[in-house]
Amino acid sequence: MNFLLSEEHRMIREAARDFAQTELRPGVIERDTIQEFPDNLVKKMGALGFMGIMVDPKYGGSGMDTISYVLIMEELSKVDASASVIVSVNNSLVCYGIEAYGSEAQKEKYLPKLATGEHIGAFCLSEPEAGSDATSQQTTAIDKGDHYLINGTKNWITNGGRSDVYIVIAQTDRSKGSKGINAFIIEKGMPGFEIGPKEDKLGIRGSDTHTLQFNDVKVPVENRIGVDGFGFKFAMKTLSGGRIGIASQALGIASGAYELALAYSKQRKAFGTEICNHQAIAFKLADMATDIEAARHMVMKAAWEKDQGVPYDTSSAMAKLFASKVAMEHTVEAVQIHGGNGFVKDYHVERLMRDAKITQIYEGTSEIQKMVISRAVLKD
Ligand code: CAA
Repeated sequence: MNFLLSEEHRMIREAARDFAQTELRPGVIERDTIQEFPDNLVKKMGALGFMGIMVDPKYGGSGMDTISYVLIMEELSKVDASASVIVSVNNSLVCYGIEAYGSEAQKEKYLPKLATGEHIGAFCLSEPEAGSDATSQQTTAIDKGDHYLINGTKNWITNGGRSDVYIVIAQTDRSKGSKGINAFIIEKGMPGFEIGPKEDKLGIRGSDTHTLQFNDVKVPVENRIGVDGFGFKFAMKTLSGGRIGIASQALGIASGAYELALAYSKQRKAFGTEICNHQAIAFKLADMATDIEAARHMVMKAAWEKDQGVPYDTSSAMAKLFASKVAMEHTVEAVQIHGGNGFVKDYHVERLMRDAKITQIYEGTSEIQKMVISRAVLKD
C-alpha cells in the first residue's frame, strides 16, 4: 500500500491549485453575488483539460485517471464550488456516461466538444416529484419506432441553461418499473425543448440551475443510450462515479475553509495573543484537520477502486456521505473561528458554508447514501 502521490499526480494538483488561485479566486465573490456563470473560465478549464479529465485522448480528452480527477476537483472546490460542479457534472455524469455506455457514434459525435469545454453537458434525472425516488419518473419517452417522443419536466438541473448536450432519463413503459426507463441524449435547440427559469440558490450561485420542459420532443432512436430499458441502471452506475466527484467537491470546500481558518487564527489577536494559541480554537483546528484527512482517504479510496475496475458503489456513497458532513460541519466552524469577519463576504468562509449544504443534497441526499450503504452492509 502506498499513500504517496506520484510526481505526475503532484504536478496535476499543482496545476489545478495554480489555476484556482490565479483565475478562479479574483472574481469568485462577485460571481456568487450576481449569480454569474463563469463562461470564460469554463473555456480556460477546457483548454487545461479539466472538462474531459478521464476521457480517452482519441475522443479529445485528457486521458487521466480518477485520482487526477479528485485532485483537480479538490483544488477547484477550495476556491469556487460553482466552477467545480460544472466540471464534475460534465466529467463524471455526462462524459463518463457517454464514454462508458454510449454507442461508438455517440462517443464520436459528442465527446470531442464536451471534453474540451467547447460544449457543456447536463444530466437530467430529478423531477418535481422524483428526486430521491428515481424510479418514479413522470417524464415519458413514447416509443415511435425510429424515434421517441419525450414529454415532461426536469428540475434543479445543473448547467441547465448553458448546456449543449443533455442526458435525459424518462419512462417508456411504466409497467416494467425500473426496467421501463431509458436515457437519451437531447441537444439544445431540439423543437419542443425549452429551458425554464433559473433558480435563485443559497449556494453554488455561480453555477446555472434550471427547470427544463420537454413538449413532444422528437428524439431519434440512435440517441438512446444502451439497449431499451437500460436507463435506470445507466443512471445508477453513472451516479456512483458522480458521487466521487461530489465527495471531492465537499472535501475541497472543507479544506478550503480549514486553510482560511488556520491562516486567520495565526494572525488575529485576542486576549493578548494570536487566537490559535487559545485551546478553544486549536482544538477546533485539530478536529478539522483530522476529519478532512479521513475524508481525503475515503475519496482517494473510492477513486482508486474506480481506476482499478473493482466495485465502488459503496465506497463512493460512503465518501460522499462523510465528506459532505465534514464540509457542512467544518465550514460552520471556519465561520466561527473568523468571528464577525466570518459573517461578511470578503473573508470567503460564509460562501463556503453556503456551498457546503448542496453536497448533502445533490447526486443523492445523505439519506440516499445511507440507503445505498445500508443495503450493501445488510447484504454481506
Ligand atoms: N449499479 C447497477 N445497477 C443498479 C445500481 C447500481 N449502482 N443501483 C441499483 N441498480 C439496479 C438494481 O440492481 C435493480 O435492478 P434489478 O431489478 O435487475 O435487480 C434496479 O436498478 C432497481 O434498483 P432498486 O430496487 O435498488 O431501486 P430503488 O427504487 O430502491 O432506488 C436508490 C434505489 C438508490 C434510492 C435510487 O433511486 C437513487 O440512487 N436515488 C437517488 C437519485 C439521485 O442521486 N438523484 C440526484 C439527481 S442527479 C444530480 O443531482 C445531478 C446534478 O445536477 C448535480
